[in-house]
Amino acid sequence: MTDNIRRGAEKPGEAERQEGFMQKCAALLDRREAETGHRMTFRVTTFGCQMNAKDSEKLEGILEQCGFVREDDERKADFNLYNTCTVRENASERLYGHLGLMKSLKEKDPRRLVGVCGCMMQEKDEAEKMRSRYPYVDLVFGTHNIYRLAELLYRTLTTGKQVQEIWDGTDSIVEDLPQDRKYSFKAGVNITYGCNNFCSYCIVPYVRGRERSRSPKDIVRECEKLAADGVKEVMLLGQNVNSYGKGLEENITFAQLLREVEQVDGIRRIRFMTPHPKDLSDELIEVMAQSEKICRHLHLPLQSGSTRILQRMNRRYTKESYLALVGRLRAAMPDLALTTDIIVGFPGETEEDFEDTLDVMRTVRYSSAFMFIYSPRTGTPAASYPDQVPENTVHERFDRLLTLEQKIAAEECGKDAGKVMDALVEDMSPKDPGMVTGRLSSNLMVHFPGDAALIGQIVPVRLLRSGGFYYIGEMAGRNGAD
Ligand code: SAH
Ligand code: SF4
Ligand code: F3S
Repeated sequence: MTDNIRRGAEKPGEAERQEGFMQKCAALLDRREAETGHRMTFRVTTFGCQMNAKDSEKLEGILEQCGFVREDDERKADFNLYNTCTVRENASERLYGHLGLMKSLKEKDPRRLVGVCGCMMQEKDEAEKMRSRYPYVDLVFGTHNIYRLAELLYRTLTTGKQVQEIWDGTDSIVEDLPQDRKYSFKAGVNITYGCNNFCSYCIVPYVRGRERSRSPKDIVRECEKLAADGVKEVMLLGQNVNSYGKGLEENITFAQLLREVEQVDGIRRIRFMTPHPKDLSDELIEVMAQSEKICRHLHLPLQSGSTRILQRMNRRYTKESYLALVGRLRAAMPDLALTTDIIVGFPGETEEDFEDTLDVMRTVRYSSAFMFIYSPRTGTPAASYPDQVPENTVHERFDRLLTLEQKIAAEECGKDAGKVMDALVEDMSPKDPGMVTGRLSSNLMVHFPGDAALIGQIVPVRLLRSGGFYYIGEMAGRNGAD
């Protein structure tokens, strides 16, 4: 589904310039098709977070405007573009297997194209490595210039050489890019780019640059456009959505932005990712509690339950202030589901610090948690801390945390059995062709009998029983549904 969002570019004329390159690429591809009888195809492989997923929708939109046709099979696609993540070491390592495959496929068919972009390419030395060790990669760019894909691609197609363009940063936001949305009924909407928090373990501020907020007008207009296209659920995206608005001409907070998005007719559900606990305001709690549309789910990354470790992580909250915040949230919204991110084995983490993490998990009772083993990232302060935790200790702690998390998540998931709740149907169930899969406001999934016609609809579902971390249910009549 391609839509062109045409409005108020902060970089005047740039979208039109790029459109010129899209047309030039399309003309080249037409010529190739006339010569070979084959229309060139593309596949974008995405690693990492929702920001990257959103960027990939823009990349795919541009490639379609350039005349490429989507091909899901990596081995068949004429142009494979890898949108990389580097937040943990294993995220980076995954790229190299794919590049190995590309090398052997390209030896058989040199007309294939390979591109690498995204967070990993923003790292010092990565671009140089692409030049020296992966010369068969045709196109290398970063996170700040994705809107220039057509121009860079045109250069590759016309020179046949590896084209590299990495920017250290940017202060501009280019608004009007084509995008090819993955789902017809839900969409991510960027509200901020970059991050200023510099948590001591995290590479994101270095590869995504300084925090920039989009104007509320642009965000609301994008939501209106999405609603007109049939989107029912929006996910507002930023590394720290709570700091939305800083640096804008308008005087606006994240809570006020939510109020504006709430006014958009047709949008039935609003989610957001990620709020930082250090500046989650009482105003936001109030707006959430009063809202009919904001989902009853908050992803509130803890990282560690130990105040000492949190301080070393530069998270700027304490165990006590985090728990107090959870208390205020739950008092205002007793049915709020909380999920989190936790890092195990941060440098200097003692058994006592780790016990604090277990303690917070027992107290908060997250409905799910993403747990990560600390991964040193070159250039971040924590990577050079002397007291790295031995690997076997980290693994042992990770297993204990995982066991506790699974037990709590299963108990939490059972809590709503018997109730009727609205679910947005997202897909056919992967295991059973007679079942569909819907997402509840709490972000849990429910599987229930249904057919493809339900996809994209919000329907009431009776939750019959827990399957551990999802529900099995049945449709509960259509009253009050779509
Ligand atoms: N902006 C979000 C997180 C983005 S990164 C926030 O502040 O919550 C997603 C998650 O990856 C983080 O929450 C953290 O748990 C994890 N992470 C980031 N850097 C990491 C590292 N060096 N090692 C292990 N996990 C890391
Ligand atoms: Fe990384 Fe911290 Fe920024 Fe999240 S808030 S992206 S963890 S630096
Ligand atoms: Fe990865 Fe970049 Fe996201 S490093 S987690 S894809 S911002």
